[in-house]
This record gives sequence, structure tokens and C-alpha cells, in this order.
Amino acid sequence: MDYRKRDGAETVEIPGNIEDICMNALIFSAIWGVGGQLNEHTRPIFNEYLKKLIAGENVQEEYKIDIEDQGNPLKIPNKLGTDFDSLLDASFQPDSCSWLHWTKTVPAYQVPVGASFTEVIVPTVDSIRIQYLLKSLLQKSKHTLIVGPTGTGKSITVVNELKNTFQSEEWTYLSLSFSAQTTSAQTQQIIDGGMEKKRKGVYGPPLGKEGVIFVDDLNMPQKEQFGAQPPIELLRQWMDYGGWYDFATVDRDFRATRNVRFAAAMGPAGAGRAAITNRYVRHFNVVYVEPYSDDSMNAIYCSVMDWMFRSAKKMTYPASVEKLKENIVSSTIGVYNQIIKEFRPTPAKSHYIYNLRDVSKVFQGLAKSSPKAIISEDSMIKLWAHECLRVFQDRLISIEDRDKFSELL
Ligand SMILES: Nc1ncnc2c1ncn2[C@@H]1O[C@H](COP(=O)(O)OP(=O)(O)OP(=O)(O)O)[C@@H](O)[C@H]1O
Ligand SMILES: [Mg+2]
Repeated sequence: MDYRKRDGAETVEIPGNIEDICMNALIFSAIWGVGGQLNEHTRPIFNEYLKKLIAGENVQEEYKIDIEDQGNPLKIPNKLGTDFDSLLDASFQPDSCSWLHWTKTVPAYQVPVGASFTEVIVPTVDSIRIQYLLKSLLQKSKHTLIVGPTGTGKSITVVNELKNTFQSEEWTYLSLSFSAQTTSAQTQQIIDGGMEKKRKGVYGPPLGKEGVIFVDDLNMPQKEQFGAQPPIELLRQWMDYGGWYDFATVDRDFRATRNVRFAAAMGPAGAGRAAITNRYVRHFNVVYVEPYSDDSMNAIYCSVMDWMFRSAKKMTYPASVEKLKENIVSSTIGVYNQIIKEFRPTPAKSHYIYNLRDVSKVFQGLAKSSPKAIISEDSMIKLWAHECLRVFQDRLISIEDRDKFSELL
């Protein structure tokens, strides 16, 4: 939605239902401006609250909100209807002034034939909304930070969106990834290396394009002696001053970098990841990615198996094997859910950490099979059991645990 005057335009066309659009857009902004940062435990509470607020109920009394009484609460006119359990599942479409479920905003996904395993990216509710928000925010020069537990597809979704939208005539992007050892000098070098001189002391993305800098695993750098993370302090300096000092010149001239905006991804603090300073986070629009629900995982891996069956060359898999798809997917997810419940990491078994990557590995293994060898349901099931043993059981260190897992399988 952009009703600003364009270059050369005499007037701006404003639709007749602008008031309607604004009211609904206000709700959409409230959902993501406030609710976007909440995690899966607090989102339902927020959802309930916002629904009541929109409906004009007296939330002030119910939630004991301590502000001066503003008189009667007002209802916000909207076109939400009653279809949505959670407001966070709804996407506002300004063109038609209506609300759609996120999954209905993109065409049904077909894995491109000939794609490799890592290129199979199945849209889920979370990935669709992250891509939409990233696109809208970055195009308006708003820095965006994606936060979520490990294995929720943050890196894969952001990179996918950057490739789709921010690699064009007008856009370019640069991506870098932080590790515990990243220094501020390295960070500066990588970013400076991707820029072009505009005039003395001013740099920007090449060919006059607009740029996005994507920093993955933002909170990985180790804290130094005084509790700061130098690479992050460097980036914070850019936020405040638009640049840094150039080590390549004798006088350490100030080097401004223009026409860029930042996108970043990180896991929540804890488990080896530091909490980063609020002085930096405050510059970002923060969006949280929820861990995948079983439904989303089902959708992802059913598509992966479809892709596997369709990309078999020369021969095809027997129909009876293809029928096993749903069972294999749900059993794998079942095994995964069980294993994260029963084999918890302890100091002695600190590597008992499983995430979506491991589930992917099972399917990656299956996808390596050839229809020549998989002639019956039996052989497919054996292969599947073998992959599960390799991915999940090989990590267990005691005979006891191993037996327990075999039983589970
Ligand atoms: N939508 C998806 N479609 C297909 N595969 C997916 C999808 N989402 C995640 N995966 C699988 O999950 C794996 C982990 O995803 P990714 O590396 O993006 O996680 P992450 O959120 O960046 O995790 P971390 O915080 O550890 O960096 C990917 O390698 C991929 O195999
Ligand atoms: Mg990642």
C-alpha cells in the first residue's frame, strides 16, 4: 500500500474505501508490530486480547491495565470475519480489502523437477509470513531481525526471499554469517568489500543499486572481557552514525555506507548464544518464527517425498512404495518427537540435541535410493529404518539407550 505521489504524477489516486483499508491495515500492523515479537506461548494470549480490543470489549478492566480511563471502548470496524482462530494466521490484502489465510496468498507449491535436495523449500505458514514481512519491511528501508529456535528454517527462508526479490536490476544483497570467532575487523572487511565508492568517504552497493546486508546467526560472536560483542558494536555504530572508520587510510577517515538496510537472523538467547545488547536490537523490527507444528513438518516432508518419487530417472518407484509416503512421513515425525522427549541432553550426553536438520537427513538418505533397489514395500521400510538408525541411534552412547531406541522404532 503506497499512496505517495510518484515522480511526474499530477495526482494520487486514492481508492474510495480508503477508510476501510486504513482500519484493516491498522489491525494488521498491530498484529505484527506487537504480536510478531511474541513466542508461541504468548501469542495465543495476545491473540485473545487483541480480538477483544478490536471488538470494543472493556479490556482495561479485564486485564487490569493501569492507564487513565479513556471513556467507552470503541469497536474497530474490520473485515476479519470469524474464519481465523488466530489473528496471526490472517494476512490483509489491501487491493481487495480482505483477509486471507497466509497459505492461500501463494500458489500451491510444486517442487521444480531437477531441483537438488537443498533447493526444496516448501512454503509453510511461517515461511510465507516471514517472506512477506521481510519484503515489505526491507523495501521500505526498515531493518528486520528474525528470531527463532534452531531448525525453524530461518536461514533458508531469508536467503530464499533475498534471491527472489532482492537480486534484480534495482536490488542486490550481501550475506555473511557470524560465528563465535568473528571479529569486528572481519565484519568490516566483508561489508566494505561488497561496496563501491560513490565519492570521497561515501560508499554504497555497486551499480547504484539498493542493498540488503543479511547477517546470519547474529548473536554468535563471543563476548569479550567487558561483556561486549565487537562485531555487533560495529554494526551498531553503523545504525547510529551510518558508517565506521577506514583502516585502509592513514588518517582512518570516516567511511559512510549508504543505501543499505540490514536483515538478520538469530536464535533466542541461551544454549551458547548470548543475549545481544538492546541498544542494537532497538533498531530492528523483530519477528519471531515459531517452531514447526507437526502439520507443517508433514507438509514439508510429503512434498520432499513427492519430489523424490518424481525425480527418479528412467524407472519409477512401484505404486505400493509410493503409497507408503504418508506413513513414512508421520512415522519419522513420530520418532523425532519421541526422541526429543525421551533422550534429553544432560551434562554427560550434551550432544543429545536433535532438530529439524536431523529429520531432513533421514529424507535426504531416502532420496539417495534408486527405484532399482527399492522394489517392494519391505525394502522401503528397511531403508527407512536404516536411515533412522544412522541419524538418530548412532548418536546414542550407551547400549541401554540404543536398545530403548530400537524398541521405539
Ligand atoms: N520450509 C522448508 N522446506 C524444506 N526444508 C526445510 C524447510 N524449513 C527447514 N527445512 C530444513 O531444515 C533445515 C534447517 O533450516 P535452517 O538452516 O534454515 O534453520 P535455522 O532456523 O537457520 O537454524 P539455526 O538457528 O540453527 O541457524 C534445513 O537445512 C532444511 O533441510
Ligand atoms: Mg541458520
